[in-house]
Amino acid sequence: MKNILITGGAGFIGSHLVRLMVNKYPHYNIINLDKLTYAGNLENLKDIEDSPNYKFIKGDICDTALIPKLLRDNKIDGIIHLAAESHVDRSIKDPFAFANTNVIGTLNLLQSAKNYWGEAGKEGFEGKLFYHVSTDEVYGSLEQEGTFFTEDTKYDPHSPYSASKAASDHFVRAFHDTYGLPVVISNCSNNYGSFQFPEKLIPLFINNICNNRALPVYGKGENVRDWLYVEDHAVAIDLIFHKGKTGDTYNIGGFNEWRNIDLIKVMIKTVDRLLGRPQGSSDSLITYVTDRAGHDLRYAIDSTKLNKELGWSPSLQFEEGLEKTVRWYLDNKEWMERVTSGDYQAYYEQMYNR
Ligand code: NAD
Ligand code: TYD
Repeated sequence: MKNILITGGAGFIGSHLVRLMVNKYPHYNIINLDKLTYAGNLENLKDIEDSPNYKFIKGDICDTALIPKLLRDNKIDGIIHLAAESHVDRSIKDPFAFANTNVIGTLNLLQSAKNYWGEAGKEGFEGKLFYHVSTDEVYGSLEQEGTFFTEDTKYDPHSPYSASKAASDHFVRAFHDTYGLPVVISNCSNNYGSFQFPEKLIPLFINNICNNRALPVYGKGENVRDWLYVEDHAVAIDLIFHKGKTGDTYNIGGFNEWRNIDLIKVMIKTVDRLLGRPQGSSDSLITYVTDRAGHDLRYAIDSTKLNKELGWSPSLQFEEGLEKTVRWYLDNKEWMERVTSGDYQAYYEQMYNR
């Protein structure tokens, strides 16, 4: 495969994946399609934007004229699809935006790939791949400690976000089963690391601790998430893209469960230490607020299949990854200011629409 389309490459996970692929595969052309919503920032890719094997296209995955043309013009052989609306709280406020991008957008990509690759009949699918990046949230919520989501766990989404991701996963499988489209899906646990938009727990709270702002803990802070360093996710995607079995699903996670409140306490300690503040000085920022509606209690991924079949395992211990992440946000305050100010977006709108 030579010409790879990555959707959502200006977002958090997408930018790490684009960087990895551009640097690791100089003989591939990496085409990054992104609408540049509030969550997409080209600044995340400044270090590779001039690479000869990289091209950025601003556009919407729902655009039924753009996608078929883009596939044809760039002779796309492989698609790694990450573009999505990704924040649960936003999905509760505006579920339609999630149905549109996550479901209709995915369907538009699937249909366009099927039509383009399928022009040469069934043989046209040979050597092609549609890789759909999904989430563990499609599996619902685990109540009991010691139980895990496996690839066989029944889908049971609760939030509009997870419902839209579940629907898109079903469409991907339907295109495989109905039309023979070569697909693969991965479902990953919560990611953390650099370049994450500060509306998700970890970057939001690091930023708030730095600025002495309240830390809004939903409910009692007892919900459990399974955290994975974003670069380990990108490595897993690369591996599955090249070595995964067509038609299969792979769960990705680090066996790294944390109760929110315990994680928040570690974040406070780490930020205070790195800022040279006396220990405990930011503890009083913890503020318990009304719980998120339909808040899933616990996520925990069993990634044994990925480990056994493809030899993947996370490279970083959580404490090390968190320390690295906190340092990155402290060293990149300007990035934080720009992505939250709106100025940045206006700047790039101008750059790419001129
Ligand atoms: P993100 O919100 O940081 O980035 C999403 C990107 O998609 C942005 O660059 C945005 O501009 C782009 N985008 C949104 N709508 C678009 C549209 N209609 N057309 C083109 N581009 C559009 O998200 P993320 O956290 O990087 O997540 C990426 C993918 O990984 C998503 O599919 C998400 O469901 C999945 N995922 C995320 C996590 C996590 O912890 N963040 C975990 C598992 C799976
Ligand atoms: P989040 O980063 O939004 O990821 P997700 O909901 O997809 O798991 O939230 C992680 C956990 O942190 C989740 O249990 C909700 C909780 N949370 C808070 O307690 N306060 C906050 O302000 C945010 C954003 C999240």
